[in-house]
Amino acid sequence: MFGFCNKKYSIDGKVVLLTGALGSIGKNLARSLVEKGAQVALVGRQPVDTGNEFARVLNNGYEQPVALYFQVDLRKIDNIMPMFELVLRKLGRIDILINNAAVEPPLKLCESSAFEEVADAINVNLLAPIELMRLFEKHVRHRTNKSQGVVVNVSSMLGLAPMNTFEVYGATKAALINLTRASRALAPQVRVSAIAPYHVLTPRMLDHLTKFNVSSARRMVALSMDQVCATVIRCIQDTSNAGEIYTMIGDLTYTRTWAFELAWMHIIFLFVVALLVAYVKRVFKRNN
Ligand SMILES: NC(=O)c1ccc[n+]([C@@H]2O[C@H](COP(=O)([O-])OP(=O)(O)OC[C@H]3O[C@@H](n4cnc5c(N)ncnc54)[C@H](OP(=O)(O)O)[C@@H]3O)[C@@H](O)[C@H]2O)c1
Repeated sequence: MFGFCNKKYSIDGKVVLLTGALGSIGKNLARSLVEKGAQVALVGRQPVDTGNEFARVLNNGYEQPVALYFQVDLRKIDNIMPMFELVLRKLGRIDILINNAAVEPPLKLCESSAFEEVADAINVNLLAPIELMRLFEKHVRHRTNKSQGVVVNVSSMLGLAPMNTFEVYGATKAALINLTRASRALAPQVRVSAIAPYHVLTPRMLDHLTKFNVSSARRMVALSMDQVCATVIRCIQDTSNAGEIYTMIGDLTYTRTWAFELAWMHIIFLFVVALLVAYVKRVFKRNN
């Protein structure tokens, strides 16, 4: 469940770089951001005409363009810096980065997936977000107006719960969660948070649920795209967010993932036990 919403970071007038902008969740996010007054750099790999067409739909009714399409293939990490610089040249600055693009599951570790497929998934789902965060942090640190930057990483519940046949996808999403939690230290200059949704009812997911006759219980706790967009917006607006992971299932959205706290307690416990063992060994050695 949502905690208390603190001071709000306004999206109005901000420039957003959104990857996977022509995907199901991406399109919804782009619309929500434009409605909230943002200018959006739509980053996607689809042909320029397709991207421009979506930008035209978003720009409809506005005097100044609120959306611009940038085509890039995120599998090639060398493409990222030129794209980032082009966005800066065209839109002047970037205030918010949303790492939403991903190569979707299933992506098996063994059997069907060729190594290139695995490497592509790691590039798009993990290395591209890392490279974008590095470029973004540098941009925010060096700009003259000292305004805050915000990053939202779109992870998945599979990043929290390992699952057979989703090994590679899950590993990239788990890494995004770890990266986000460790990036808490970048605040207040750059606030990084992530969402980890369960199934989202995108057309592709609906197709999958039908094809594999997925149980009604699993369907009941699936999420709407609106829920996901609202949570990304909340990540941006709530200034208390830094290193938070918004886990989402059914109507529940919570940020206190006790597993992380337990993991820390586990490590502290092991640390103390290891210290005790080392101490006892040393005393033994001295006495013999
Ligand atoms: N749907 C779910 O149930 C669910 C659950 C948990 C988390 N998520 C996460 O939510 C995010 C959005 O997912 P979605 O359901 O909206 O999936 P989607 O419709 O497939 O969107 C993924 C986007 O990533 C883009 N992308 C893939 N490879 C790329 C590449 N090499 N270069 C540039 N862009 C690339 C795709 O571009 P194209 O348009 O060209 O294909 C697409 O726009 C993903 O990070 C996903 O892992 C989804």
